[in-house]
Amino acid sequence: MKKQTAMNRDWIATARTLSEALPFLQRYDDAVVVIKFGGHAMGDDTAMESFARDIVLMQQVGVNPVIVHGGGPMINEMLDKLDIKSEFVKGKRVTDAATVRVVEMVLSGLVNKRIVQAINAQGGNAVGLSGKDANLMICTQTNPDLGFVGTPSKVNPKVLRQLFEAEMIPVVAPLGMGEAGETFNVNGDTAAGAIAAALKADRLLLLTDVSGVKDDKGEVVTELTVDHIRRLTESGVIAGGMIPKTETALDAIAGGVRAVVILDGRAPNACLLELFTEHGAGSIIRAG
Ligand SMILES: Nc1ncnc2c1ncn2[C@@H]1O[C@H](COP(=O)(O)OP(=O)(O)OP(=O)(O)O)[C@@H](O)[C@H]1O
Ligand SMILES: [Mg+2]
Repeated sequence: MKKQTAMNRDWIATARTLSEALPFLQRYDDAVVVIKFGGHAMGDDTAMESFARDIVLMQQVGVNPVIVHGGGPMINEMLDKLDIKSEFVKGKRVTDAATVRVVEMVLSGLVNKRIVQAINAQGGNAVGLSGKDANLMICTQTNPDLGFVGTPSKVNPKVLRQLFEAEMIPVVAPLGMGEAGETFNVNGDTAAGAIAAALKADRLLLLTDVSGVKDDKGEVVTELTVDHIRRLTESGVIAGGMIPKTETALDAIAGGVRAVVILDGRAPNACLLELFTEHGAGSIIRAG
């Protein structure tokens, strides 16, 4: 008898959760949501499974998700294994011809297919591509000192819209092609921002391994303004891997994205919490 009561309560709670989600489901019906899944946010198989399930649910309720992934830790591991030594300029790896081949192998091969497979195992219909496919991302060299690192100069999102139409979930590896046919590695945050701007996305979610952008006291700032980002950057509180994220957020907003959220991708159901509940998660930067 007791067991049945507990069960009843669970089902009622589940029904209530679904009911409470209705206004959010309506708000995001047919919305475009670009999700940067950082190499550091990718956990073990269970975490990957949970991420994939959230994405499939999102698509099932009418959102058009696009995944853009990172893979820094996996690239470093493979470069080590292959004993490819890199030069560093001011703490940044120089991507020479041998390195960019490994970068492409790891991003388009290992990491991209792991995500595609995880989504499809949850009943989704994911298609893996890189910025090279259908000329999605044409790049120029960011800085000759850094080798084959590119900045997106032209994004052609037509292929993504066609995949939305076909109810497929695009999973994009952050590589682009140069005008002379070179392969460029693009920072995952930058690539996600450029794609989000080209699609005029409703939301850009940057999933990382911290719960948001922290201030000088180490507390997460839940709403960030352009001015606040500038101050935190100038005082060095925003540093390292957070710099391309906040820069991307500002560029994406300027490019027509409605809001950018920086949040912890390892937290359970991070994307659902952000999109479909009152609670929200991480740090949000809104347009105007
Ligand atoms: N003010 C700040 N608030 C929060 N994190 C910060 C801040 N300044 C620097 N960081 C660092 O930024 C890191 C996130 O960027 P990082 O590039 O390491 O991960 P990622 O972009 O999610 O993964 P990848 O680069 O592999 O795709 C955090 O782990 C943290 O150490
Ligand atoms: Mg990073």
